[in-house]
Amino acid sequence: MLRASRVLFSSNLVSKSFNSASVLQRSSPADTVNPAELFGSAKKAVLIGVPGAFTPGCSKTHVPGYLKHYDELKNKGVELIGCVSVNDAFVMDAWGKDLNVGDKVTMLADPQGKFVKDLGLDFDASAALGGHRSKRFALVLENGKITKAFVEPNNTGLSVTLAENLLKEL
Ligand code: BEZ
Repeated sequence: MLRASRVLFSSNLVSKSFNSASVLQRSSPADTVNPAELFGSAKKAVLIGVPGAFTPGCSKTHVPGYLKHYDELKNKGVELIGCVSVNDAFVMDAWGKDLNVGDKVTMLADPQGKFVKDLGLDFDASAALGGHRSKRFALVLENGKITKAFVEPNNTGLSVTLAENLLKEL
């Protein structure tokens, strides 16, 4: 449903799968994961992208919303929730611990930003964060295929990608 405008709902991502050659990191640079395999193993999954670990919007609103609504997301069939950011793995790991994500949200580091760039979801955040970062987005995947894609129209806002909004779309 194109309830949101074209800017909010990114239809060019729908039906795509993640690049099978992509690599993300978890707790350290050596702890790598293939996102195509990770998300391909879940019937239904959500991946959120955030501009930066420990930034106020991501730490106080975006990720906490997915923790708060975790049970409802599970009840809608979501088996896996991932959070990716253009940060290093040590920072993502520390941020996940700080937010108490436990097993609820899989923290994923994209230190060079290749994964988000490949999806067309990077933006120039140098003025605030020193380089290219991930736009704030929320993707729904079914068996590894993107079925819904929400991207904040100004890259960093907190509207269409919030858990509350996504729940209505599942
Ligand atoms: C945030 O609070 O989410 C944020 C802060 C600065 C730049 C981008 C995002």
